Amino acid sequence: MAINARRLWERLMELGEIGLRESGGVTRFSFMEKERQAKDLVAHYMKEAGLSVREDAAGNLIGRREGSDAGAPVILTGSHIDTVPDGGKFDGALGVLAAIEALQTMEEQEIIAVHPIEVVAFTDEEGSRFGFGMLGSRAMAGTLRPEDLGHKDADRISIAEAMKSAGLQPERLHEAAKAPEQVKAYVELHIEQGKVLENAGAPVGLVTGIAGPLWQQITIAGQAGHAGATPMNQRKDPMQAAAELLNYIYAETRKFPNAVATIGQFRTLPGGINVIPEQIQFSLDLRDIDEADRDVLEGRIRDYAIEVCRKHLTELKIDLLQKVAPAPSSPEVKEAIAEAGRLAGLVDLPELVSGAGHDGMQFNGKWPIGMIFVRSRDGISHHPAEWSSEADCGLGAEVLYHALLRLAR
Ligand code: HGY
Ligand code: MN
Ligand code: MN
Repeated sequence: MAINARRLWERLMELGEIGLRESGGVTRFSFMEKERQAKDLVAHYMKEAGLSVREDAAGNLIGRREGSDAGAPVILTGSHIDTVPDGGKFDGALGVLAAIEALQTMEEQEIIAVHPIEVVAFTDEEGSRFGFGMLGSRAMAGTLRPEDLGHKDADRISIAEAMKSAGLQPERLHEAAKAPEQVKAYVELHIEQGKVLENAGAPVGLVTGIAGPLWQQITIAGQAGHAGATPMNQRKDPMQAAAELLNYIYAETRKFPNAVATIGQFRTLPGGINVIPEQIQFSLDLRDIDEADRDVLEGRIRDYAIEVCRKHLTELKIDLLQKVAPAPSSPEVKEAIAEAGRLAGLVDLPELVSGAGHDGMQFNGKWPIGMIFVRSRDGISHHPAEWSSEADCGLGAEVLYHALLRLAR
């Protein structure tokens, strides 16, 4: 094995201490103190790897290794170090640290590739704080719009305000954009966050495509009232409409082979135990690798929501938070990963779809993209029990190392 799996593991565990809570979960929200600490530690690792380190106008932390042809388009790699609330130590972090390990190995072996290689810790991939994800990769793709910075967190602080308080200048975001001709390819290592590799008994897999997430905030407004004194047939109860709508969402989603629907957030106002709610609000995370299926499902849910809210004499409001198209992996990156798997001693990498969203999908259609997955124990992720073994992380990094060399030569 060319890479130093132990060094990678020690860095993973050290980074995982930042934002660690009693629950055993890690919480690092964008533009907040724990994330800043994590970026400073990762910048230190980048320097140890001999990389030139900078942060771009979107706060993306970038470590660069020069190639023999300085003018050649760059090979991009990396992932994110922000997390979901009470997340794991591996989601995102593994992709950033494995890329640093791969470049440090090149430095130690005095390998100079043709193309420069940049490892990026992308800003706010998860969208946990503002409900709008992949901020840094959208900025680098040049698709982030000024109005996107209006999304607010639970304390009503906007992305723009949070960026300013972190010392960034939102008006200069366009400087973070890379033109397609500046980038040859993007390859990311990530934990699978599912059970396909574990069920296949495989430590590493080749991702064929990334399912597209659609996020909505659904609000149903009715009439607050006394829980005891209001007969059932005289209510405008948003909770009854919501109950029927949620059942419909789950039942309808099951009709599609690859669709998934998640209601992760649910709020009731005013929230009194003996008060018929005035308003309920919930999030919808709807995904599919097939965009046409997702569109059909989105339409059916909207039509049913209109119908059920009318039936219960309540008002419906659907706010679209983000809608990302599913992204296929590019043939040349898939080929480089397959070749890298062989060089790492893994004869045939199993192929699989990513149900989770990743930064690479923002580059879909701009430059070639691809992903390598590392086995997740019990398929658990976005949870303190998220875990991949030292050996599997090392093998994943070894495949990434060979894939980068292949793409950068
Ligand atoms: O939501 C996702 O799929 C990823 O974890 N950001
Ligand atoms: Mn995640
Ligand atoms: Mn992730």
